[in-house]
Amino acid sequence: FNYNEKYRPLYHFTPQYGWMNDPNGMVYLDGVFHLFYQYNPYGARWGNMHWGHTVSKDLVNWEYKPYVLVPDKLGAIFSGSAVIDHENTAGFGKGAMVAIFTSAGERQTQSIAYSLDGGKTFTKYEGNPVLTDANIIDFRDPKVFWHAPSKQWVMSLATTQTITFYGSKNLKEWTRLSEFGEGLGGHGGVWECPDLFPLTYEGKTKWVLFVSINPGGPNGGSATQYFIGNFDGKTFTPDTMSYPLWLDYGRDNYAGVTWSNVPATDGRRLFIGWMSNWDYANETPTQNFRSAMTVARVLRLVHNGEHLVVASEPVKELESLRREAVLLGDKTRTNTSDAITFENFLPNNQGAYELTFTVTPNETDSFSFALENAKGETIKYLFDGANKTLSVDRSKSSVAFNANFAETLIKAPMVAKKSYTVRLLVDKSSTELFVNNGEVVQTNAVFPSEVYNTLRFNTSKGTLTLNNVTVYKLK
Ligand code: FRU
Repeated sequence: FNYNEKYRPLYHFTPQYGWMNDPNGMVYLDGVFHLFYQYNPYGARWGNMHWGHTVSKDLVNWEYKPYVLVPDKLGAIFSGSAVIDHENTAGFGKGAMVAIFTSAGERQTQSIAYSLDGGKTFTKYEGNPVLTDANIIDFRDPKVFWHAPSKQWVMSLATTQTITFYGSKNLKEWTRLSEFGEGLGGHGGVWECPDLFPLTYEGKTKWVLFVSINPGGPNGGSATQYFIGNFDGKTFTPDTMSYPLWLDYGRDNYAGVTWSNVPATDGRRLFIGWMSNWDYANETPTQNFRSAMTVARVLRLVHNGEHLVVASEPVKELESLRREAVLLGDKTRTNTSDAITFENFLPNNQGAYELTFTVTPNETDSFSFALENAKGETIKYLFDGANKTLSVDRSKSSVAFNANFAETLIKAPMVAKKSYTVRLLVDKSSTELFVNNGEVVQTNAVFPSEVYNTLRFNTSKGTLTLNNVTVYKLK
């Protein structure tokens, strides 16, 4: 394992060797956050799916663990979730960690396995599979939680282009509760990796349903849509809104779901996503590994001025990585023919840093900022208040490796504001943009041939006021 490997992120989780896709089985137990993941230990392309395993006490520093689930006669181990069985409903033991996952053989079926040693090793249940369907081919990615009011486990399962909910008293026998999604939301591809969970807004509980979809994302390929509504233990009823809504309009945040069993004293809804896109995931220009996770994020329901959205922001623990804060200052651009340029903005720039600033456009509602390197590679962020969009142009950001990677202008809807607070996390092969505390999010991979070290702001009219432009080197 070599941190100097080209494009090996410095502060995002990557497998030491091999291929990784979806985060799986995220669960908290006794001070430890577990993250399992779709893993091929034999090569850096998709195949032979196992569950890899890593743990963290702070959601920032991850320790590698041996993989826990390997393919068997029922098939490869596809995506799924994990719960802590506090009441021993399944009979595996009080407080057992139970993984619920898809066995992907000739048919896709749901299986379970339990761990009595805090997630180190798992035993597959001898009665597997626990859920089958003779008719549904795409039948996968079970996400399970305990629904206290109806005293049952509830499973959300991707069933072609709908989500089917099942209920169980013991994690072994499942009955169908309802089905959601026909005619609503994005249907440009197959539905995958659902997650159903509550969030509070102004003291009231709302239920949020995540559905990843591939292809059919707002900017091509795979992406995660969501619905906001109510769940009564049987049926999910969406609020009337203009669907689809997308968690992240960037190209590289897929199959993300949330942690289970997070203590009430923490109270956060914690999320991590796979920072790639099925459009090109198998061809990214890394060598010993493929794909990274996003940073861990907190989800909240907020009102963006037009409607409710699920906002996401990095967990506060990430700030522990900040080193060498450089205050680039406050600036107002007065002459419209000049850009505001910060050259060589970070001494010893190793490609891992965080930029924060507030930008206020005056007499204009469109402006841009860009990261650039000496090779002329650049990623550009275009704020267009008139058209209510925030677009990312990464067409010249990276070495060439796949036509799908470079061709689109990556657009997000944005409600125009007087000022924007901007937070941009950059690592050796990724950019994560959070505007106005995560109201608008764009996560996009980049593969520049050298680090970006110039920051440049532009507007075609009016002036821009920049406040507290700060860059932190990240450890
Ligand atoms: C999503 C997905 C899941 C599946 C897994 C297989 O990226 O296609 O639906 O379980 O990947 O690796």
